[in-house]
Amino acid sequence: MGWFQAVLISAVLAASCTASNRTFPPGFKFGAATAAYQIEGGWNATDKGESIWDRFVHDDPTRIPNNENGDIACDSYNNWERDIEMAAELGLHFYRFSLSWSRILPTGFNNRISEDGVRYYNNLIDGLLARGIEPFVTLYHWDLPQPIQDLSGWTNPLIAEWFAEYARVVYTLFGDRVKLWNTINEPIVVCDAVYNTGAYAPGVSNSEVAPYVCNKILLMAHAKAWRIYDEEFKPKYHGKVSITNNLLWVEPATEEFKELAELALQNFGGRYSHPIYSKEGGWPPGIEEVMFQNSLKRGYSKSQFPAFTQEEKDLVRGTFDFFAFNHYTSRYIRKAKEGETFAPFPVGDVEDLDGINMMPEGSEVGATSWSAVFPEGMRRLLVWLKEQYGDIEFVIAENGFPTYGGLEDTSRINYHKEYLEQMLLAINEDGVNVTHYTAWSLMDNLEWVDGYAHKFGLYEVDFTDPKRTRTPRQSAYYYASVIAHHSLDVSID
Ligand SMILES: *[C@@H]1O[C@H](CO)[C@@H](O)[C@H](O)[C@H]1NC(C)=O
Ligand SMILES: *[C@@H]1O[C@H](CO)[C@@H](O)[C@H](O)[C@H]1NC(C)=O
Ligand SMILES: *[C@@H]1O[C@H](CO)[C@@H](O)[C@H](O)[C@H]1NC(C)=O
Repeated sequence: MGWFQAVLISAVLAASCTASNRTFPPGFKFGAATAAYQIEGGWNATDKGESIWDRFVHDDPTRIPNNENGDIACDSYNNWERDIEMAAELGLHFYRFSLSWSRILPTGFNNRISEDGVRYYNNLIDGLLARGIEPFVTLYHWDLPQPIQDLSGWTNPLIAEWFAEYARVVYTLFGDRVKLWNTINEPIVVCDAVYNTGAYAPGVSNSEVAPYVCNKILLMAHAKAWRIYDEEFKPKYHGKVSITNNLLWVEPATEEFKELAELALQNFGGRYSHPIYSKEGGWPPGIEEVMFQNSLKRGYSKSQFPAFTQEEKDLVRGTFDFFAFNHYTSRYIRKAKEGETFAPFPVGDVEDLDGINMMPEGSEVGATSWSAVFPEGMRRLLVWLKEQYGDIEFVIAENGFPTYGGLEDTSRINYHKEYLEQMLLAINEDGVNVTHYTAWSLMDNLEWVDGYAHKFGLYEVDFTDPKRTRTPRQSAYYYASVIAHHSLDVSID
């Protein structure tokens, strides 16, 4: 018990609700998340290799407002002990972080393993376990080794093998202590957002071919990495591995757009889920036909959307131990009008479907333009996922709200409270088996091309201070209290 717990916060039972909609199931786990490039800094520490984000921000410093970059970020490379302390202050059951592939394998390949990189992650993992906090480790959160990008990155089919080799190195190094793994974070960003816009590393723009080639190759990479764990490591370590999708909930603007909304869900989430989680495997219903027609319309002689062979389908199908997803916001969708233009990701129209996305009317929007608050989307999404993929285990791997700063973040507290309420309804009323909830983020960090101005942290980070001092926000006290009482019936005095 530290000072942090001492300022907690009495539990009050809300009169209007019975306990089960306010109290989390026994064994339900809470965590917070970060990602390597967004927090670590130490971009050129000892023998670390260059990643695509290092190259992207150094090549053209104006890509992020105020010439910001992740060279130092939260300096978690040096501040990892404080990070663990924060996780302990919150009472987290687990901490989700990602590994920098080029910090562990400076060349991107398994010919050389960095002692310093291994030391860094060993310290972090051992430090967490010493405080009773479980590490939930993501292998890839967008920072590809530049030497692999030089060989076409996620559009080269050979990357499936290179990623699998990296995964084997990592399982070998940390698998005795890490039991919860995630292969790839938000494939829709790695493939669709990156190549549709060119606005994220590696800065390559190719919207008609690359996203779909990448989509398939990335699934193959995930599947190989999952199978290596399943065959070589699971028998002795008994851990679990999955992939983490970013899922937007989509509502039809009016009844007539119901089918369009369903297709949009299949396009946004299904392209990275159906091949893995459905009984039959392969692409989701309807999508292959849409992509085929679009390819013809764009003048290609055949579909630019790659088919799976039966062997590939079988390789990918069933490669999960739970269903992990990140969820932030929802949209309404309608058909585009004649000549209407499409806004690119992340606000995100669906040009392939001729669909225009609209923000939910009247909802609060945070610092980042895409961040409309629509808590009901959480419950509807969970119900939809259970209908699609069955009564499996669901892990919410990110959920959070961006502000412009300040320690009194009522909007963030309300966001977590309202989304958790909807999650509890899905659990209690709809029988969805959600076992973990993860707040994004443990602390403010580099919000990619939005820079440091958009703040998602339960802890504020002072980026003008060389020590990158971290200070708990009101939301940190709130979250700690929810965790301590295993209930939403808490108030902050
Ligand atoms: C939970 O909330 C729902 C919706 O408000 C309500 O219908 C249900 O009775 C509540 N369940 C319990 C056990 O309180
Ligand atoms: C590492 O990068 C920083 C800039 O972020 C630079 O000042 C420093 O000289 C570099 N160190 C090495 C060893 O290259
Ligand atoms: C939810 O999933 C976990 C992990 O597979 C399992 O242990 C648990 O029994 C499931 N709970 C329910 C209510 O199905």
